[in-house]
Amino acid sequence: MVVDYYSKQLWCSPFLLFFFLTAIIMEEMKLIISTANQIPTTLEGPFPPVTRRFDSSLRRGSDDLPMDHPRLRKRVSPMFPEQISLALSSQPTSIWVSWVTGDAQIGSNVIPLDPSTVKSEVWYGTQSGNYQFSQTGKSEVYSQLYPFQGLLNYTSGIIHHVRLQGLEPGKKYYYKCGDTSLSAMSKEHTFKTLPLPSPINYPRRIAVVGDLGLTSNSTTTVDHMVKNDPSMILMLGDLTYANQYRTTGGKGVPCFSCAFPDAPIRETYQPRWDGWGRFMEPLISKVPMMVIGGNHEIETQAAGISFKSYSARFAVPSYESGSDSNFYYSFNAGGIHFIMLGAYVDYNTTGDSLYLLKFFCHFLVFMRVPNELMFYINLAFSSNLLMYHLQESYLQRFSVTGSQHTWLRKDLEQVDREVTPWLVAAWHPPWYNSYSSHYQEFECMRQEMEGLLYQFGVDIVFSGHVHAYERMNRMYNYTLDPCGPVYINVGDGGNIEKVDVEHADDPGKCPSPGDNMPEFGGVCHLNITSGPGKGQFCWDKQPEWSAFRESSFGHGILEVVNDTNALWTWHRNQDVYKEQSSGDQIYIVREPERCCATIK
Ligand SMILES: *[C@@H]1O[C@H](CO)[C@@H](O)[C@H](O)[C@H]1NC(C)=O
Ligand SMILES: *[C@@H]1O[C@H](CO)[C@@H](O)[C@H](O)[C@H]1NC(C)=O
Ligand SMILES: *[C@@H]1O[C@H](CO)[C@@H](O)[C@H](O)[C@H]1NC(C)=O
Ligand SMILES: *[C@@H]1O[C@H](CO)[C@@H](O)[C@H](O)[C@H]1NC(C)=O
Ligand SMILES: *[C@@H]1O[C@H](CO)[C@@H](O)[C@H](O)[C@H]1NC(C)=O
Ligand SMILES: *[C@@H]1O[C@H](CO)[C@@H](O)[C@H](O)[C@H]1NC(C)=O
Ligand SMILES: [Fe+2]
Repeated sequence: MVVDYYSKQLWCSPFLLFFFLTAIIMEEMKLIISTANQIPTTLEGPFPPVTRRFDSSLRRGSDDLPMDHPRLRKRVSPMFPEQISLALSSQPTSIWVSWVTGDAQIGSNVIPLDPSTVKSEVWYGTQSGNYQFSQTGKSEVYSQLYPFQGLLNYTSGIIHHVRLQGLEPGKKYYYKCGDTSLSAMSKEHTFKTLPLPSPINYPRRIAVVGDLGLTSNSTTTVDHMVKNDPSMILMLGDLTYANQYRTTGGKGVPCFSCAFPDAPIRETYQPRWDGWGRFMEPLISKVPMMVIGGNHEIETQAAGISFKSYSARFAVPSYESGSDSNFYYSFNAGGIHFIMLGAYVDYNTTGDSLYLLKFFCHFLVFMRVPNELMFYINLAFSSNLLMYHLQESYLQRFSVTGSQHTWLRKDLEQVDREVTPWLVAAWHPPWYNSYSSHYQEFECMRQEMEGLLYQFGVDIVFSGHVHAYERMNRMYNYTLDPCGPVYINVGDGGNIEKVDVEHADDPGKCPSPGDNMPEFGGVCHLNITSGPGKGQFCWDKQPEWSAFRESSFGHGILEVVNDTNALWTWHRNQDVYKEQSSGDQIYIVREPERCCATIK
């Protein structure tokens, strides 16, 4: 019996062992295979923070392309259109076409051109060479003047903007722009309109890029972006770095105020804008680009005039989206509502509910309303609708319209998530950023606006400004929150200022309070309010809300699949020639049921 028992055991154990081992290995394999092939989704988050440091085999930056570089040089005679670009209007059936004619002047005694000497016409149709439609538009010139010894004045070519309307969605159009009476028309270009707002149609691919500049690294970014074949582009500010190119007679410098502490003003070399317009034309004469201003667009002149180049060169759908400023606007592309916000223009809560409540109470007291009536008014006050109408009439009476915050609230209230399920917001300087560079710089803006974006269930926020990549876990008010937006920073377009490599949590790299002063608005630095870093300005390790960060140049592509899933891919410049490579990839998944309490 004993022998029999042991022989059985001997026979059994290795078999069982083998069986169990095989089973375990199979499970492990399955896990490895699935994690290798499967793109993570935000539903699996929050993810433990990951940092990939700068690849030291690369250079942290490169020189600006010279003005006589083939991609920057002027290629047409003065009468003919150049720097042709497209921008979406607020709906996909309308598109802006912009271009420049005439020669810009730089130096002394510059004389502005007369815009009325050239017409702004676009001829277009759905067949090559057959233009059934035409539309005319407006034109302007701008000047950048410096009444200081040794600085150069500039006056632009004639900048034309024409809005095409009544286009069919999802259709290819052929167009020429220029002035037919002068026989000065461009060659034929094409574009494809985006789909109408609907939960089942989306732009094929949205390229997202920030802080692009005009260097060899910018070239790599743009070439890679062209290879990725986007159907529209989000350009997150800091476009040309014209104020880093020729500074007080010299060459570009990484820190202007360090190099020129005595300069009377920060000079910008405006011909860089014309160079950039030519550099971008092959892409943006086909694919609409939506811009938002960054700090490098401020370009202050004498008498405090600023943003001249940005304002004159880019058509944005401000008017069409009920904004009276080209620093903020919104538009629809398929089932996505985009909101572009201005960080360098008042973003504070003015004319908002609290303000109104105060006013209304004063009004009631003034009118000596009896107590019973007061009770019913209080009841009615909890109704949003009444609040909304009161606010409208209040705003009209006291003409406090025009504030960005008021516009934003109104725009958010008008979004129908049944038609445009996705809500994507973008502005230049990030609210959440764990690099030393620009750490907490726009904390005032966050404190003023974050509640509103959260309340209306914004899905994704894109920013630039910091010259590196970072993707956050879903968060709200510096706390992990499954219903907060996914914040993504892509200020890694490749400009002259080099890749940012230091993190605020690296030893000795926590910025001092005076380091990151915003170029607009107040300073609202905040110390950590809970956890091990409580009371400190910086974390001592990568914060829990920072899911992934890498110091590299690159750009992103957003592909919205349906009303809940969107694929986000970040492409690194050094990966250009490798197939199927990506620096970061994730499915951003909306959960409208879970987060419906916050979504109207
Ligand atoms: C920027 O471009 C230069 C020149 O092409 C290259 O040597 C450098 O490695 C690039 N840097 C990054 C961070 O991509
Ligand atoms: C540039 O324009 C300003 C303002 O008109 C003028 O004061 C200054 O002399 C001009 N500079 C040159 C070099 O022409
Ligand atoms: C955000 O967090 C701060 C600090 O913890 C807190 O004082 C504030 O009330 C919070 N704000 C909101 C809107 O929850
Ligand atoms: C906006 O509010 C911040 C504080 O949150 C303040 O520092 C800043 O001066 C205000 N800006 C304007 C334009 O009112
Ligand atoms: C914030 O943190 C810094 C150190 O990181 C400290 O010097 C400062 O006193 C703190 N401020 C407050 C109000 O706690
Ligand atoms: C949305 O797309 C994802 C990914 O392709 C898919 O898993 C999901 O079932 C789709 N949802 C709907 C409602 O079609
Ligand atoms: Fe910036």
